[in-house]
Order: sequence, then structure tokens, then C-alpha cells
Amino acid sequence: MLAELTNVTKSYQSGSVTVPVLNGISLNIAEGETVAITGPSGCGKSTLLNLLGALDQADSGEIRVAGRDLTKLDTQQLAEFRNTTVGFVFQLHHLLPQCTVLENVLVPSIVRKGADRAALRARAAQLLEAVGLSHRLDHRPGQLSGGERQRAAVARALINSPKLLLADEPTGALDRASAERLADLLAEVHQREKITIVMVTHAPELARRMGRVLPLLDGRLSAV
Ligand SMILES: Nc1ncnc2c1ncn2[C@@H]1O[C@H](COP(=O)(O)OP(=O)(O)O)[C@@H](O)[C@H]1O
Ligand SMILES: [Mg+2]
Repeated sequence: MLAELTNVTKSYQSGSVTVPVLNGISLNIAEGETVAITGPSGCGKSTLLNLLGALDQADSGEIRVAGRDLTKLDTQQLAEFRNTTVGFVFQLHHLLPQCTVLENVLVPSIVRKGADRAALRARAAQLLEAVGLSHRLDHRPGQLSGGERQRAAVARALINSPKLLLADEPTGALDRASAERLADLLAEVHQREKITIVMVTHAPELARRMGRVLPLLDGRLSAV
């Protein structure tokens, strides 16, 4: 299994009130699987994705990803896990406006000590070619369309060859045609990189393209 969640709970503190969000999530994701998590706004989809990516910590339960027990990692190990084992794509691209597209794709690789910089640049260029942006390497994000920015964000998420791609409503800010193109791209990425994908989405046509659709309701997952 690439990811195993057992009885995971998470709540947020709102003043003196504790708001439960995840009420005992158990989920196994095999290597190479594609999974969609769906559900109404505010049901905890991003919370769940953030736990999988070690951006946040569960209150109780166990989360293992790529053989590592996330509750047992120290700060430095967590940072390394986030940087190398998972890749993130969010609804908003979060590209650095002052950097070129190629530089943006290289950002997650900067902290890799002793890395072969020339090889990384070649991989970045190759990833950008694969997402249809080979003619945009030296452009700034501001010169790209919304769909192109999201495709650059996908290339950036892949630069360190993560095992798990986490995408939080990656088409949420795109028009239908760009959303369709991004979905095609994720399917290609899945094939080519043999990567596991967990995607949060509101869009049923996007969710259906994943191997498994898991609706999140009342803090629990149900299988469709
Ligand atoms: N950092 C936070 N502090 C307090 N409440 C939060 C925080 N993040 C999310 N929540 C609340 O937790 C619930 C689930 O949020 P979220 O996981 O973002 O839902 P979704 O992604 O499904 O829209 C919501 O009610 C939200 O307001
Ligand atoms: Mg969300």
C-alpha cells in the first residue's frame, strides 16, 4: 500500500468550541491508484488531503505514506517528506510571479543537496514539454493563461519525482476546456510517471476519470 489511514480524526478549535471535521477515516491506497475525494464545500476534503501530504497533523489515528508513519517524523523529516515523497497542486497555482516558468518548476528542487543541476534543468524542460509548455519556458506566470499556469504547477509538482500527487480542486478556477485539458494531462502523467494520484474535486466528470471515487460525508468516507 502506498498510503494507509487508520481511524484518523481531526477537529479544529473555534474559540472555545471544538469542531470535528474527520471522524474516523480509514483508507488504503495502492501504489499507482488514482482516487477522487468528493463532497460538499466544508466537509473536510482539503483537511484530509493536507494530512496525507503532512501539511497538517491528525488528532488521532495512524497515517502511513510510502512506508513512513507520519506521526513519528520530526520536523526535518516532515519537510523532506513533503518535498520529495509528495507533489502538490492547489486550486490556485502559487507560481512565483518574478520567476520564469522554468525557474518555478525548479523551485522544489532547490533544497536538494548535491543534486545535478543540469539534469534537473533538463527534467524541468522535459516536464514542461510534456504539459505543452515548451514554448513558454522563459515566460513569467503573468504571461500565461489560467490553464497554462495550472499545467506549469503540475510540472513543478513532479520535479522531484514524488510517489504521490495530491491535487486540491486543481480545475476549480478553470474554464471547462482548460479543465478538460488538465484532466487529460493528469491521466498522461499517471501513465508515464506511474504515480499515485489523490484528487479533491467538485466536478463529477473529473472525479469519474479517477479509478475510485470516495465521497466524504459527515467526516467519513464511503465507497461508490
Ligand atoms: N485552520 C482551520 N481552523 C479552523 N477551522 C478550519 C480550518 N481549516 C478548515 N476549517 C474548517 O474545517 C471544515 C473543513 O474544511 P476543509 O477541509 O477546508 O473543507 P473542504 O476542503 O471540503 O471545503 C470547514 O468547516 C472549515 O471551516
Ligand atoms: Mg477545500
